[in-house]
Amino acid sequence: MSSEDFPTDRPAVVTCGLPYANGDLHIGHLRGYISADAFNRALKTLGQQSAYVCGSDMHGTPVAVNAEAEGVDPETFALRWHDQYQETFPQFNVEFDNYGHTHDDTNTALTQDIVRTLDEEGYVYEDAVLVAYDPTADDYLPDRYVEGTCPYCGAHARGDECDEGCQRHLEPGEIENPTSVRTGNPAEYRERTHKFFRVSEFADFLTDFLDGLEGTSNARNQPRQWIEEGLQDWCLTRDMDWGIDYPGSEDEDIVLYVWVDAPIEYIASTKQYTERVGAEAYDWAEVWQHDAGGEIVHIIGRDIIQHHTIFWPAMLEAADYNTPRGVAATGFITIDGKGLSTSRNRAIWAKEYLEEGFHPDLLRYYLTTTGGLQQDVDFTWTAFQEKVNGELVGTIGNFWYRSLLFAYRNYEGTPDVAVSSDVEERIEGAIGAVRAGVNDYSLRDVGLAATRLAQFGNEYIQQHEPWKLTDEDPEQAAQVIRDCVQIAKAVGVLLEPIAPDKAQALWEQIGETGSVADAHLEDALEAPPRTFDEPGEIFEKIEDDRVEELEETLEEKIAAASEDDEDEGASESEAETETDDTADDEAPRMDDDTELEPLATDRISFDDFQDLDIRVGEIVVAEGIDGADDLARLEVDIGLETRQVVAGIKRLHDLESLPGTRCILLANMEPAELFGVESNGMVLAAGEAADLLTTHGDAGLGEKVR
Ligand code: 2FM
Ligand code: ZN
Repeated sequence: MSSEDFPTDRPAVVTCGLPYANGDLHIGHLRGYISADAFNRALKTLGQQSAYVCGSDMHGTPVAVNAEAEGVDPETFALRWHDQYQETFPQFNVEFDNYGHTHDDTNTALTQDIVRTLDEEGYVYEDAVLVAYDPTADDYLPDRYVEGTCPYCGAHARGDECDEGCQRHLEPGEIENPTSVRTGNPAEYRERTHKFFRVSEFADFLTDFLDGLEGTSNARNQPRQWIEEGLQDWCLTRDMDWGIDYPGSEDEDIVLYVWVDAPIEYIASTKQYTERVGAEAYDWAEVWQHDAGGEIVHIIGRDIIQHHTIFWPAMLEAADYNTPRGVAATGFITIDGKGLSTSRNRAIWAKEYLEEGFHPDLLRYYLTTTGGLQQDVDFTWTAFQEKVNGELVGTIGNFWYRSLLFAYRNYEGTPDVAVSSDVEERIEGAIGAVRAGVNDYSLRDVGLAATRLAQFGNEYIQQHEPWKLTDEDPEQAAQVIRDCVQIAKAVGVLLEPIAPDKAQALWEQIGETGSVADAHLEDALEAPPRTFDEPGEIFEKIEDDRVEELEETLEEKIAAASEDDEDEGASESEAETETDDTADDEAPRMDDDTELEPLATDRISFDDFQDLDIRVGEIVVAEGIDGADDLARLEVDIGLETRQVVAGIKRLHDLESLPGTRCILLANMEPAELFGVESNGMVLAAGEAADLLTTHGDAGLGEKVR
C-alpha cells in the first residue's frame, strides 16, 4: 500500500462488491459497479496501469435460499444468474477486465490454499458454537435461514447481518429470538463445533491499517469503533453442503462461510486476467503479493464495510498478501426515502431502465454526480430528468453542438491557429480537478470537472459572440472557435470515465480516430484534427410528459410496496396508534407509513462539525426556475453578503410568501449549477414538505449556528 498520489508506477486493481448470483440487478446494485468502473477508467486517464475485476458470488445462503425456493440446485441456479450478469454489465458500459465466479477452479484452489495457510500459521482453532436449528425441518439454519433481533441495536436482522439496523456482521448464535426461514417456526440453539479465525489478534494491525487507509471516511470510522468495542474471532465454517470445502476436512456437511471465499475472488479474478493477457501486460502478483506494493482499491456498498476493513485485511495479512490502499463505501439508493427492496419491487430494475430506451451513460452520470459517494441518493425520474436536461443536454451537449457546428460551417473543422493561453490554463485547471477527484475518491468531482469546463465553454462563446466577429474581426472569430473546439475535446476526454459512449461520439465528431478510453488527461490539450464532418446532437432532452408517466408508474410501485410494508408491520403500527396520545398543539408526528432513517452510526468530531459554516439568513427573493419543476432560485441575506441558492422547494412552498422568512443556510457548501443557475449554499429543511429550519429568538442575520 502506498500513499503516493495516483498515478504510481505500480499496477492497480479496482474491484467492486461481488453480486450474489441470486436475482435481477437494480440501480442500487448498479451504483457500485458503475462507480468502480468509472474509477478504474479515471485512473487510466491519469496514466495509472489498472485492471477492473469482479465475479459472481455463488455460495452462501443468499443463493441457497433462493435456489431452494425455485426448486433448483444452487449451482445451476447461480450459474444462470452469472450468465445473465455477464450480459447486463456491458449494457451499462461496465467493462471488467475479468469477470469470474467464486465457484470456479481458480477461486476454489486459492481459497483452500489461503485457509490452509491461516491454519498452518496457527490462526485457526475449533470451538463450540450455538447454531440455530429448526426441529420441524430437522436441519441447521446457517445465516439467512434464520431471522430475528440484532443483539446490538434491536433491529430486525437476517442471519449474519444487521442489514436494517447497525449494519454489523452477526456471528452464529448471536441473533436473538431466532425464527426459521424454512418453516416460520421458532428456532432453537444447538451446540456445534466450528472453525474460528483469530481476528481478535489483529486489533493493532487493523488500527494501523485503518490509519493509512484511503477512500471514504465511513470505511475508516465505523471499523475504528468496532475495534474499540473489542474484536471477536470470526467463524469460518457453516453447516451447509453448498460452498467450498474446508481444506482437508472429511465432513461433507460443513463448508467455508461465503464471506471467506467471496473476497478471495478479487485475487482469483486478477489472476485469471494475468493468465489471459500474460504477466508482461499485467501481473497479478505485483498487486497482491505481500510487499509488492500494488494499489488495491475496493469500491463497495456501506453495508459491507466490516467485511472489507476488518475480516478481509486481517485474512490478507495472516496469509501474507498485500492489503488494500483504498476502500470507498457508497451510500444506498433509496426510492421514496426507503431502501430498495427486491421482494417488494421497490426498485428501478436494470432491464426496466434499458427498456425505457434511456442511454446507459445518462444513468452513469446521474449516479456518479448526484451527491458524494457516501451519500444516500433518493431516486426520482424528475431528479434524473433535471440532471440530464440541465447538465448533460443543457450544459455539455449544448456547448458541444453549438461550438462544433459553428466550427464546421465556418472552418470545416478546427481553425488553424493555436489555443489561447487563458483557455489552455482553464483546461489545465479542469485536468487538475480530475486528478484531485481521483485521489480523493470523488467521482462527483471527476464528472463535474467536465460539466464545469463545458459551462465555462458556454460562457466563453456567449461572451465573445463569434457569430458577430466572423465579419468584423475574422482572426478573433477563428481564435474563439479554435478555443471552443479545444474545450469541446477536453470535455470529452474528461467525461470518458463517466459517460464513455457519449465521450466516444464526441471524439469521432471532432475527427479523432481510435478510442477516447485510451486517451490520457494531457490529451485534452492536444490539437484535434484540422477537419471534421457536420456534427449532430449527442444528448437528447427527456420530455416532461415522459417523466410524468414514469413518475406515475413509480408511484404505483411505491404504493404497492408500502402496502406490503404495512401488511408485514400491521401489528406493530396498531400498537403504536393505541399509545399515540399526541396533543394537537404538539409537533406533528411522522406518518405511520414513513420510515425514519436509522441514526448514523458514524460519529463526527466537534472539529468536523465546526467545519460546517451554518448561518442564520433571511430569504429576500424567491422565484421558480424556468424549465425545472421543483427548483426555485432564492436570494438569502446572511449579514455579510446575499447568497444565491437553488432549492428544491418550487412545488412545496408558496414562493411569493417566502421573502422575509428567516432560514438557516449551510454557507460553505461547494457551489453547484442547476439549470444554468449557480447555487452557493444550501437552505436547511426537513421532512417530505421541506419544512424550512428557522430561529425563534434574537439571533441576528449572519450569526453562526453552533
Ligand atoms: O453483500 C454482497 O452482495 C456480497 N455478495 C458481496 C461480496 S463482496 C466480496 F467481498 F467479495
Ligand atoms: Zn444491529
